Amino acid sequence: MTSALQTAATPNDLSNFFMPFTANRSFKQRPRLVSRAAGMYYYTSDGRELLDAAAGLWCSNAGHNHPRIVSAIQAQAADLDYAPSFNVSHPLAFQAASRIAALAPDGLDSVFFTNSGSEAVDTALKIAIAYWRVKGQGAKTRLIGRERGYHGIGMGGISVGGIMANRKQFHSMMIPGVDHLPHTYDREKQAFSRGCPEYGAHFADELERIIQLHDASTIAAVIVEPMAGSTGVLAPPKGYLKRLRDIATRHDILLIFDEVITGFGRTGAPFAALTEGVTPDLFTFAKGVTSGTVPMGGVVCRKDMYETLMQGPEHVVEFCHGYTYSAHPLACAAAIAAMDVYRDEKLFENASRLEGKWQDAIYSLQGLPNVIDIRQYGITAGIELASRPDGVGKRAYAALEAGFHDHGIVVRTTGETIAVTPPLIFTEKHIDELVTKLGKVIRSVA
Ligand SMILES: Cc1ncc(COP(=O)(O)O)c(C=O)c1O
Repeated sequence: MTSALQTAATPNDLSNFFMPFTANRSFKQRPRLVSRAAGMYYYTSDGRELLDAAAGLWCSNAGHNHPRIVSAIQAQAADLDYAPSFNVSHPLAFQAASRIAALAPDGLDSVFFTNSGSEAVDTALKIAIAYWRVKGQGAKTRLIGRERGYHGIGMGGISVGGIMANRKQFHSMMIPGVDHLPHTYDREKQAFSRGCPEYGAHFADELERIIQLHDASTIAAVIVEPMAGSTGVLAPPKGYLKRLRDIATRHDILLIFDEVITGFGRTGAPFAALTEGVTPDLFTFAKGVTSGTVPMGGVVCRKDMYETLMQGPEHVVEFCHGYTYSAHPLACAAAIAAMDVYRDEKLFENASRLEGKWQDAIYSLQGLPNVIDIRQYGITAGIELASRPDGVGKRAYAALEAGFHDHGIVVRTTGETIAVTPPLIFTEKHIDELVTKLGKVIRSVA
Protein backbone atom coordinates (compact mmCIF):
# COMPACT_ATOMS: atom_id res chain seq x y z
CA MET A 1 0.00 0.00 0.00
CA THR A 2 1.24 3.50 -0.81
CA SER A 3 1.48 5.83 2.15
CA ALA A 4 0.42 9.46 1.92
CA LEU A 5 4.07 10.44 2.16
CA GLN A 6 5.03 8.18 -0.72
CA THR A 7 2.17 9.59 -2.80
CA ALA A 8 3.32 13.11 -2.12
CA ALA A 9 6.87 12.18 -3.03
CA THR A 10 5.90 10.57 -6.36
CA PRO A 11 7.14 12.71 -9.22
CA ASN A 12 4.44 14.12 -11.46
CA ASP A 13 3.94 11.30 -13.93
CA LEU A 14 1.92 11.77 -17.09
CA SER A 15 1.84 8.13 -18.09
CA ASN A 16 -1.21 6.85 -16.20
CA PHE A 17 -3.88 9.14 -17.57
CA PHE A 18 -5.20 7.69 -20.85
CA MET A 19 -6.52 10.95 -22.21
CA PRO A 20 -9.85 11.23 -24.06
CA PHE A 21 -9.98 12.53 -27.64
CA THR A 22 -6.34 13.60 -27.40
CA ALA A 23 -3.16 12.75 -29.28
CA ASN A 24 -1.73 11.22 -26.07
CA ARG A 25 1.86 10.78 -27.23
CA SER A 26 2.17 14.27 -28.58
CA PHE A 27 0.51 15.82 -25.52
CA LYS A 28 2.80 14.00 -23.11
CA GLN A 29 5.90 15.21 -24.96
CA ARG A 30 4.81 18.83 -24.53
CA PRO A 31 1.91 19.00 -22.07
CA ARG A 32 -0.66 21.75 -22.05
CA LEU A 33 -1.69 22.00 -18.41
CA VAL A 34 -3.77 24.65 -16.71
CA SER A 35 -4.11 24.79 -12.96
CA ARG A 36 -6.56 27.60 -12.27
CA ALA A 37 -9.23 29.61 -14.02
CA ALA A 38 -11.29 32.77 -13.50
CA GLY A 39 -13.80 34.37 -15.83
CA MET A 40 -12.47 34.39 -19.38
CA TYR A 41 -9.00 33.07 -18.52
CA TYR A 42 -7.02 30.00 -17.57
CA TYR A 43 -3.76 30.22 -15.65
CA THR A 44 -0.83 27.83 -15.77
CA SER A 45 1.06 26.83 -12.65
CA ASP A 46 3.90 29.16 -13.68
CA GLY A 47 1.45 32.06 -13.84
CA ARG A 48 0.81 32.43 -17.57
CA GLU A 49 -2.64 33.79 -18.49
CA LEU A 50 -4.51 32.16 -21.41
CA LEU A 51 -7.71 33.46 -22.96
CA ASP A 52 -10.23 30.61 -23.03
CA ALA A 53 -11.58 30.91 -26.56
CA ALA A 54 -13.36 27.57 -26.33
CA ALA A 55 -15.45 28.08 -23.16
CA GLY A 56 -13.81 24.92 -21.81
CA LEU A 57 -15.31 22.48 -24.30
CA TRP A 58 -18.18 24.71 -25.43
CA CYS A 59 -19.58 24.56 -21.92
CA SER A 60 -18.32 27.29 -19.55
CA ASN A 61 -20.92 29.81 -20.71
CA ALA A 62 -20.97 31.78 -17.45
CA GLY A 63 -17.17 31.99 -17.44
CA HIS A 64 -14.91 30.06 -15.12
CA ASN A 65 -15.37 29.86 -11.35
CA HIS A 66 -18.40 32.10 -11.25
CA PRO A 67 -18.75 32.89 -7.51
CA ARG A 68 -22.52 32.23 -7.42
CA ILE A 69 -22.16 28.83 -9.03
CA VAL A 70 -19.14 27.95 -6.88
CA SER A 71 -20.96 28.78 -3.65
CA ALA A 72 -24.11 26.93 -4.71
CA ILE A 73 -22.06 23.78 -5.30
CA GLN A 74 -20.17 24.20 -2.02
CA ALA A 75 -23.36 24.72 -0.02
CA GLN A 76 -25.06 21.76 -1.68
CA ALA A 77 -22.12 19.45 -0.96
CA ALA A 78 -22.45 20.32 2.72
CA ASP A 79 -26.27 19.89 2.78
CA LEU A 80 -27.01 16.84 0.68
CA ASP A 81 -24.07 15.27 -1.10
CA TYR A 82 -26.06 12.60 -2.84
CA ALA A 83 -29.55 11.24 -3.18
CA PRO A 84 -30.72 8.90 -5.90
CA SER A 85 -33.62 9.68 -8.15
CA PHE A 86 -34.75 6.06 -8.40
CA ASN A 87 -37.82 5.85 -6.12
CA VAL A 88 -36.53 8.55 -3.76
CA SER A 89 -35.55 12.02 -4.92
CA HIS A 90 -34.86 15.55 -3.67
CA PRO A 91 -36.48 18.94 -4.26
CA LEU A 92 -33.69 20.45 -6.36
CA ALA A 93 -34.23 17.78 -9.05
CA PHE A 94 -37.80 18.98 -9.58
CA GLN A 95 -36.76 22.62 -9.36
CA ALA A 96 -34.01 22.18 -11.96
CA ALA A 97 -36.44 20.37 -14.28
CA SER A 98 -39.02 23.16 -13.97
CA ARG A 99 -36.42 25.83 -14.67
CA ILE A 100 -35.18 24.03 -17.81
CA ALA A 101 -38.75 23.41 -19.01
CA ALA A 102 -39.49 27.12 -18.57
CA LEU A 103 -36.65 27.96 -20.99
CA ALA A 104 -37.66 25.30 -23.55
CA PRO A 105 -40.00 25.89 -26.50
CA ASP A 106 -43.71 25.69 -25.65
CA GLY A 107 -45.04 22.18 -25.31
CA LEU A 108 -41.68 20.64 -24.41
CA ASP A 109 -42.08 20.16 -20.70
CA SER A 110 -40.71 16.83 -19.51
CA VAL A 111 -37.08 16.70 -18.50
CA PHE A 112 -35.07 13.46 -18.14
CA PHE A 113 -31.66 13.94 -16.51
CA THR A 114 -28.41 12.27 -17.55
CA ASN A 115 -24.76 13.07 -16.80
CA SER A 116 -23.44 13.93 -20.23
CA GLY A 117 -24.37 14.77 -23.77
CA SER A 118 -23.64 11.24 -24.93
CA GLU A 119 -26.06 9.81 -22.41
CA ALA A 120 -28.60 12.46 -23.35
CA VAL A 121 -28.45 11.37 -26.99
CA ASP A 122 -28.84 7.67 -26.21
CA THR A 123 -31.70 8.56 -23.86
CA ALA A 124 -33.46 10.63 -26.53
CA LEU A 125 -33.20 7.78 -29.03
CA LYS A 126 -34.62 5.35 -26.47
CA ILE A 127 -37.48 7.68 -25.55
CA ALA A 128 -38.36 7.97 -29.26
CA ILE A 129 -38.39 4.21 -29.81
CA ALA A 130 -40.24 3.49 -26.55
CA TYR A 131 -42.86 6.11 -27.41
CA TRP A 132 -43.79 4.47 -30.71
CA ARG A 133 -43.88 1.03 -29.14
CA VAL A 134 -46.27 2.16 -26.40
CA LYS A 135 -48.42 3.75 -29.08
CA GLY A 136 -48.70 0.34 -30.79
CA GLN A 137 -46.28 1.21 -33.60
CA GLY A 138 -43.41 -1.01 -32.49
CA ALA A 139 -42.03 -1.31 -36.04
CA LYS A 140 -40.96 2.32 -35.88
CA THR A 141 -37.38 1.72 -34.68
CA ARG A 142 -35.23 3.05 -37.48
CA LEU A 143 -33.17 6.17 -36.72
CA ILE A 144 -31.91 8.75 -39.17
CA GLY A 145 -28.78 10.73 -38.37
CA ARG A 146 -26.59 12.89 -40.57
CA GLU A 147 -23.10 12.77 -42.07
CA ARG A 148 -20.68 14.96 -40.11
CA GLY A 149 -23.04 14.80 -37.13
CA TYR A 150 -21.56 14.38 -33.66
CA HIS A 151 -23.83 12.92 -31.02
CA GLY A 152 -21.31 11.80 -28.43
CA ILE A 153 -19.73 8.41 -28.07
CA GLY A 154 -22.43 6.06 -26.79
CA MET A 155 -23.34 3.23 -29.16
CA GLY A 156 -26.52 5.09 -30.12
CA GLY A 157 -24.65 8.34 -30.60
CA ILE A 158 -21.91 6.93 -32.84
CA SER A 159 -24.52 5.00 -34.83
CA VAL A 160 -26.53 8.11 -35.72
CA GLY A 161 -23.37 10.19 -35.79
CA GLY A 162 -21.56 10.75 -39.02
CA ILE A 163 -17.86 10.85 -38.16
CA MET A 164 -15.99 7.97 -39.73
CA ALA A 165 -13.08 8.06 -37.26
CA ASN A 166 -15.47 7.53 -34.34
CA ARG A 167 -17.34 4.72 -36.07
CA LYS A 168 -14.89 2.56 -37.97
CA GLN A 169 -13.49 0.61 -35.01
CA PHE A 170 -16.96 -0.34 -33.84
CA HIS A 171 -18.85 -0.77 -37.09
CA SER A 172 -20.06 -4.30 -36.39
CA MET A 173 -21.47 -3.25 -33.01
CA MET A 174 -23.50 -0.25 -34.10
CA ILE A 175 -27.21 -0.25 -33.70
CA PRO A 176 -28.90 -1.65 -36.80
CA GLY A 177 -31.42 0.12 -38.98
CA VAL A 178 -29.75 3.52 -39.03
CA ASP A 179 -29.54 5.70 -42.11
CA HIS A 180 -27.98 9.12 -42.65
CA LEU A 181 -28.89 12.39 -44.29
CA PRO A 182 -26.12 14.07 -46.26
CA HIS A 183 -24.26 16.84 -44.46
CA THR A 184 -25.10 20.38 -45.42
CA TYR A 185 -21.67 21.78 -46.29
CA ASP A 186 -20.62 22.77 -49.80
CA ARG A 187 -17.57 25.00 -49.66
CA GLU A 188 -17.84 26.10 -53.26
CA LYS A 189 -21.30 27.52 -52.67
CA GLN A 190 -21.08 28.52 -49.00
CA ALA A 191 -17.52 29.69 -48.25
CA PHE A 192 -17.33 32.76 -46.03
CA SER A 193 -21.13 32.95 -45.54
CA ARG A 194 -21.90 35.04 -42.50
CA GLY A 195 -24.22 33.08 -40.25
CA CYS A 196 -26.56 30.62 -41.98
CA PRO A 197 -25.64 30.05 -45.64
CA GLU A 198 -28.20 30.94 -48.30
CA TYR A 199 -27.44 27.71 -50.14
CA GLY A 200 -28.42 24.25 -48.97
CA ALA A 201 -32.03 24.07 -47.69
CA HIS A 202 -32.60 21.35 -50.30
CA PHE A 203 -30.31 18.96 -48.39
CA ALA A 204 -33.32 18.41 -46.11
CA ASP A 205 -35.26 16.90 -49.01
CA GLU A 206 -33.02 13.83 -48.74
CA LEU A 207 -35.21 12.87 -45.81
CA GLU A 208 -38.04 12.33 -48.29
CA ARG A 209 -35.81 10.02 -50.32
CA ILE A 210 -34.79 8.04 -47.23
CA ILE A 211 -38.44 7.72 -46.22
CA GLN A 212 -39.28 6.42 -49.72
CA LEU A 213 -36.59 3.80 -49.27
CA HIS A 214 -37.52 2.55 -45.80
CA ASP A 215 -41.13 3.69 -45.34
CA ALA A 216 -42.15 5.96 -42.49
CA SER A 217 -43.76 3.00 -40.69
CA THR A 218 -40.22 1.78 -39.84
CA ILE A 219 -38.72 5.14 -38.83
CA ALA A 220 -38.83 6.42 -35.24
CA ALA A 221 -36.89 9.65 -35.45
CA VAL A 222 -34.46 11.88 -37.23
CA ILE A 223 -31.73 13.52 -35.15
CA VAL A 224 -29.58 16.51 -36.09
CA GLU A 225 -27.55 19.17 -34.35
CA PRO A 226 -29.04 22.57 -35.27
CA MET A 227 -25.40 23.54 -35.93
CA ALA A 228 -22.84 20.76 -36.48
CA GLY A 229 -20.25 21.90 -33.94
CA SER A 230 -17.67 19.16 -33.62
CA THR A 231 -17.07 18.79 -37.35
CA GLY A 232 -16.20 22.42 -37.77
CA VAL A 233 -19.12 24.79 -37.05
CA LEU A 234 -21.51 24.11 -39.93
CA ALA A 235 -24.42 26.51 -39.57
CA PRO A 236 -27.76 25.26 -40.87
CA PRO A 237 -28.56 26.57 -44.35
CA LYS A 238 -31.43 29.05 -44.29
CA GLY A 239 -34.75 27.19 -44.28
CA TYR A 240 -33.12 23.76 -43.80
CA LEU A 241 -34.36 23.02 -40.29
CA LYS A 242 -37.88 24.15 -41.12
CA ARG A 243 -37.92 21.84 -44.12
CA LEU A 244 -36.78 18.91 -41.98
CA ARG A 245 -39.54 19.75 -39.50
CA ASP A 246 -42.19 19.81 -42.24
CA ILE A 247 -41.11 16.49 -43.73
CA ALA A 248 -40.89 14.80 -40.33
CA THR A 249 -44.35 16.08 -39.38
CA ARG A 250 -45.89 15.03 -42.68
CA HIS A 251 -44.59 11.46 -42.22
CA ASP A 252 -45.18 11.17 -38.49
CA ILE A 253 -41.50 10.89 -37.61
CA LEU A 254 -40.09 12.49 -34.46
CA LEU A 255 -37.58 15.30 -34.88
CA ILE A 256 -34.78 15.40 -32.30
CA PHE A 257 -32.47 18.38 -32.00
CA ASP A 258 -29.15 17.71 -30.31
CA GLU A 259 -28.65 21.01 -28.48
CA VAL A 260 -25.69 19.90 -26.38
CA ILE A 261 -23.58 22.74 -27.82
CA THR A 262 -26.25 25.17 -28.99
CA GLY A 263 -28.23 25.09 -25.73
CA PHE A 264 -27.97 27.68 -22.98
CA GLY A 265 -27.14 30.79 -24.89
CA ARG A 266 -24.77 30.08 -27.78
CA THR A 267 -27.28 31.55 -30.23
CA GLY A 268 -28.41 34.39 -27.98
CA ALA A 269 -31.47 32.41 -26.89
CA PRO A 270 -31.87 29.50 -24.47
CA PHE A 271 -31.96 27.03 -27.38
CA ALA A 272 -31.31 27.17 -31.14
CA ALA A 273 -34.84 25.82 -31.67
CA LEU A 274 -36.08 29.21 -30.41
CA THR A 275 -33.59 31.17 -32.52
CA GLU A 276 -34.63 29.25 -35.63
CA GLY A 277 -38.34 29.17 -34.79
CA VAL A 278 -38.42 25.42 -35.40
CA THR A 279 -39.74 23.21 -32.60
CA PRO A 280 -38.47 19.63 -32.35
CA ASP A 281 -40.41 16.88 -30.56
CA LEU A 282 -37.55 16.35 -28.16
CA PHE A 283 -34.09 17.78 -27.67
CA THR A 284 -30.93 17.09 -25.75
CA PHE A 285 -28.88 19.44 -23.60
CA ALA A 286 -25.67 19.21 -21.48
CA LYS A 287 -22.55 21.40 -21.19
CA GLY A 288 -23.95 24.92 -20.57
CA VAL A 289 -26.72 23.68 -18.30
CA THR A 290 -24.27 23.82 -15.38
CA SER A 291 -21.82 26.09 -17.21
CA GLY A 292 -19.61 23.01 -17.30
CA THR A 293 -19.04 22.97 -13.54
CA VAL A 294 -20.64 19.62 -12.65
CA PRO A 295 -21.46 16.95 -15.25
CA MET A 296 -25.11 17.03 -16.27
CA GLY A 297 -27.12 16.42 -19.40
CA GLY A 298 -30.65 15.58 -20.29
CA VAL A 299 -33.54 15.34 -22.68
CA VAL A 300 -36.63 17.52 -22.88
CA CYS A 301 -39.61 15.94 -24.61
CA ARG A 302 -43.18 16.86 -25.44
CA LYS A 303 -45.50 16.57 -22.48
CA ASP A 304 -47.84 14.27 -24.40
CA MET A 305 -44.91 11.93 -25.12
CA TYR A 306 -44.27 11.67 -21.40
CA GLU A 307 -47.97 11.06 -20.80
CA THR A 308 -48.06 8.39 -23.50
CA LEU A 309 -45.23 6.59 -21.74
CA MET A 310 -47.14 6.59 -18.42
CA GLN A 311 -48.79 3.19 -19.02
CA GLY A 312 -49.33 -0.02 -17.06
CA PRO A 313 -49.86 -0.71 -13.37
CA GLU A 314 -48.99 2.32 -11.25
CA HIS A 315 -46.41 0.51 -9.10
CA VAL A 316 -44.38 -0.55 -12.14
CA VAL A 317 -41.53 1.48 -13.71
CA GLU A 318 -42.87 2.98 -16.93
CA PHE A 319 -39.55 3.65 -18.71
CA CYS A 320 -36.72 1.31 -17.74
CA HIS A 321 -33.86 3.72 -18.10
CA GLY A 322 -31.82 6.04 -15.86
CA TYR A 323 -28.46 6.63 -14.25
CA THR A 324 -27.23 6.43 -10.65
CA TYR A 325 -26.33 10.09 -10.98
CA SER A 326 -29.42 11.32 -12.87
CA ALA A 327 -30.36 14.62 -11.17
CA HIS A 328 -27.33 14.47 -8.86
CA PRO A 329 -27.81 17.13 -6.14
CA LEU A 330 -24.54 18.92 -6.95
CA ALA A 331 -25.44 19.05 -10.63
CA CYS A 332 -28.94 20.34 -9.87
CA ALA A 333 -27.55 23.03 -7.57
CA ALA A 334 -25.03 24.03 -10.24
CA ALA A 335 -27.71 24.08 -12.96
CA ILE A 336 -30.06 26.28 -10.94
CA ALA A 337 -27.23 28.66 -10.06
CA ALA A 338 -26.05 28.78 -13.69
CA MET A 339 -29.59 29.55 -14.89
CA ASP A 340 -29.82 32.29 -12.23
CA VAL A 341 -26.57 33.79 -13.52
CA TYR A 342 -27.72 33.57 -17.15
CA ARG A 343 -30.93 35.39 -16.21
CA ASP A 344 -29.56 37.99 -13.78
CA GLU A 345 -26.48 38.89 -15.80
CA LYS A 346 -28.45 38.76 -19.06
CA LEU A 347 -25.81 36.58 -20.66
CA PHE A 348 -27.97 35.33 -23.54
CA GLU A 349 -28.84 38.95 -24.29
CA ASN A 350 -25.12 39.77 -24.14
CA ALA A 351 -24.46 37.07 -26.76
CA SER A 352 -27.21 38.46 -28.95
CA ARG A 353 -26.03 42.06 -28.55
CA LEU A 354 -22.43 41.20 -29.44
CA GLU A 355 -23.18 38.88 -32.36
CA GLY A 356 -22.66 41.60 -35.00
CA LYS A 357 -19.35 42.68 -33.49
CA TRP A 358 -18.33 39.01 -33.17
CA GLN A 359 -19.15 38.36 -36.80
CA ASP A 360 -17.21 41.42 -38.07
CA ALA A 361 -14.21 40.54 -35.93
CA ILE A 362 -14.10 36.90 -36.98
CA TYR A 363 -14.50 37.67 -40.68
CA SER A 364 -11.63 40.17 -40.45
CA LEU A 365 -9.38 37.06 -40.45
CA GLN A 366 -10.40 36.37 -44.05
CA GLY A 367 -7.36 36.83 -46.26
CA LEU A 368 -4.82 35.57 -43.72
CA PRO A 369 -2.51 32.83 -45.02
CA ASN A 370 -4.19 29.45 -45.57
CA VAL A 371 -7.65 30.53 -44.39
CA ILE A 372 -9.92 28.74 -46.86
CA ASP A 373 -13.24 29.31 -45.09
CA ILE A 374 -14.74 31.05 -42.08
CA ARG A 375 -18.07 29.90 -40.71
CA GLN A 376 -20.06 31.46 -37.91
CA TYR A 377 -23.24 30.71 -36.07
CA GLY A 378 -24.26 32.64 -32.96
CA ILE A 379 -21.26 33.02 -30.70
CA THR A 380 -19.24 30.29 -32.40
CA ALA A 381 -16.91 30.35 -35.35
CA GLY A 382 -14.89 27.86 -37.36
CA ILE A 383 -11.80 28.99 -39.24
CA GLU A 384 -10.74 26.36 -41.72
CA LEU A 385 -7.12 26.20 -42.81
CA ALA A 386 -5.58 24.60 -45.88
CA SER A 387 -3.80 21.35 -45.04
CA ARG A 388 -0.05 21.12 -45.08
CA PRO A 389 1.39 18.84 -47.73
CA ASP A 390 2.70 16.51 -44.99
CA GLY A 391 -0.65 15.62 -43.43
CA VAL A 392 -4.28 16.55 -42.85
CA GLY A 393 -4.84 18.17 -39.48
CA LYS A 394 -1.19 19.08 -38.90
CA ARG A 395 -1.64 22.81 -39.50
CA ALA A 396 -4.59 23.12 -37.11
CA TYR A 397 -2.77 21.05 -34.51
CA ALA A 398 0.23 23.35 -34.83
CA ALA A 399 -2.17 26.28 -34.30
CA LEU A 400 -3.50 24.70 -31.11
CA GLU A 401 0.05 24.28 -29.81
CA ALA A 402 1.15 27.76 -30.86
CA GLY A 403 -1.93 29.29 -29.27
CA PHE A 404 -1.26 27.60 -25.96
CA HIS A 405 2.51 27.90 -25.72
CA ASP A 406 3.25 31.14 -27.56
CA HIS A 407 0.18 33.37 -27.88
CA GLY A 408 -1.85 33.01 -24.67
CA ILE A 409 -5.02 31.55 -26.15
CA VAL A 410 -6.74 28.17 -25.86
CA VAL A 411 -8.67 27.11 -28.95
CA ARG A 412 -10.38 23.90 -29.97
CA THR A 413 -9.41 22.27 -33.23
CA THR A 414 -11.20 19.65 -35.27
CA GLY A 415 -9.66 18.37 -38.47
CA GLU A 416 -8.24 21.47 -40.10
CA THR A 417 -10.70 23.85 -38.42
CA ILE A 418 -9.94 26.13 -35.47
CA ALA A 419 -13.20 26.40 -33.53
CA VAL A 420 -13.76 29.33 -31.21
CA THR A 421 -16.66 29.80 -28.87
CA PRO A 422 -15.93 32.07 -25.91
CA PRO A 423 -17.77 32.19 -22.59
CA LEU A 424 -20.86 34.39 -22.83
CA ILE A 425 -19.53 36.85 -20.24
CA PHE A 426 -17.25 38.15 -23.03
CA THR A 427 -17.01 41.84 -23.88
CA GLU A 428 -15.90 43.80 -26.93
CA LYS A 429 -12.41 43.93 -25.40
CA HIS A 430 -12.28 40.13 -25.25
CA ILE A 431 -13.40 39.85 -28.88
CA ASP A 432 -10.53 42.16 -29.89
CA GLU A 433 -8.06 40.20 -27.81
CA LEU A 434 -9.31 36.89 -29.21
CA VAL A 435 -9.08 37.97 -32.84
CA THR A 436 -5.66 39.61 -32.41
CA LYS A 437 -4.27 36.47 -30.80
CA LEU A 438 -5.91 34.25 -33.40
CA GLY A 439 -4.40 36.31 -36.19
CA LYS A 440 -0.94 35.80 -34.68
CA VAL A 441 -1.57 32.08 -34.33
CA ILE A 442 -2.70 31.73 -37.95
CA ARG A 443 0.31 33.66 -39.25
CA SER A 444 2.63 31.57 -37.10
CA VAL A 445 1.53 28.35 -38.82
CA ALA A 446 1.73 29.71 -42.37
C1 LIG B 1 -23.92 17.90 -30.29
C2 LIG B 1 -23.25 17.04 -29.26
N1 LIG B 1 -23.89 15.97 -28.79
C3 LIG B 1 -23.36 15.20 -27.84
C4 LIG B 1 -22.11 15.46 -27.33
C5 LIG B 1 -21.52 14.57 -26.29
O1 LIG B 1 -21.47 15.19 -25.07
P1 LIG B 1 -20.55 14.59 -23.90
O2 LIG B 1 -19.12 14.78 -24.32
O3 LIG B 1 -20.95 15.37 -22.69
O4 LIG B 1 -20.90 13.14 -23.76
C6 LIG B 1 -21.41 16.58 -27.78
C7 LIG B 1 -20.09 16.91 -27.24
O5 LIG B 1 -19.38 17.78 -27.69
C8 LIG B 1 -21.98 17.39 -28.79
O6 LIG B 1 -21.33 18.43 -29.29
